[in-house]
Amino acid sequence: MAHVTIDDDRDLDGLRRAGRAVADACDEMLAAVAPGITTARLDEIGGEVLARHGARSAPMLTYGFPGQTCISVNADAAHGIPSAGTVLRGGDLVNIDVSAELDGYWADTGASTAVGSVDPARQHLLAATRRAQSEAMNAARAGKPLRHVGRAVERCARRHGLQVVANLAGHGIGRGLHEWPSVPSVEDRSDRTMLHEGLVLAIEPFLTTGPPFVVDADDGWTLRTPLGDPIAQFEHTVVVTAGRPIVLTAPLAV
Ligand code: CO
Ligand code: CO
Repeated sequence: MAHVTIDDDRDLDGLRRAGRAVADACDEMLAAVAPGITTARLDEIGGEVLARHGARSAPMLTYGFPGQTCISVNADAAHGIPSAGTVLRGGDLVNIDVSAELDGYWADTGASTAVGSVDPARQHLLAATRRAQSEAMNAARAGKPLRHVGRAVERCARRHGLQVVANLAGHGIGRGLHEWPSVPSVEDRSDRTMLHEGLVLAIEPFLTTGPPFVVDADDGWTLRTPLGDPIAQFEHTVVVTAGRPIVLTAPLAV
């Protein structure tokens, strides 16, 4: 199967550099989020950071996506197209997702954030989704079932009174953007897949206040909530170990 298991330090180093590139791009874009900025300008910032690292946009390379990064606002969940016509406004939620290839290694990260100040329900959604992603990463351990990742997301969502989007999943990554295995954010009790040391995963739960699925928008790319409910996502690329995973896309400590 075409999935990446880290065999040596060279692989880990290559993945770390790809992880650093997407994490830096995502961080700089998040720092630029403010009322009045367009998503096209945010994308330009992300593209500049990727270029500085010598990395190439994964969605462009893999799918011919019309942007360096995916930027999705409010009810748009994922694969939102950066646009000069999309101006962020105070009270919006925006999701920034950056994936890239560098020297044959691939990494993927994403985060949702508030534009200006948002209402308490949106704050709650952001905090709970960040927490669910963190708990999901910690459930990804060598020798444990893959389904424990989804179980962790579901438990966290339930505690916070939120829904888990079932038709979006994380994925293996490393030598390509989307590899085996799919990493569902809900528990599939029939899944017997076990995690092993060195497996590289992108873990990315989506939580929402509305129905637990997304639908296609008519631009051919964007996925959005069916009734216009807000949605949030956080994503990191990790290497599975016997203990806590190695997070390849963590922001630099400040
Ligand atoms: Co992503
Ligand atoms: Co991903």
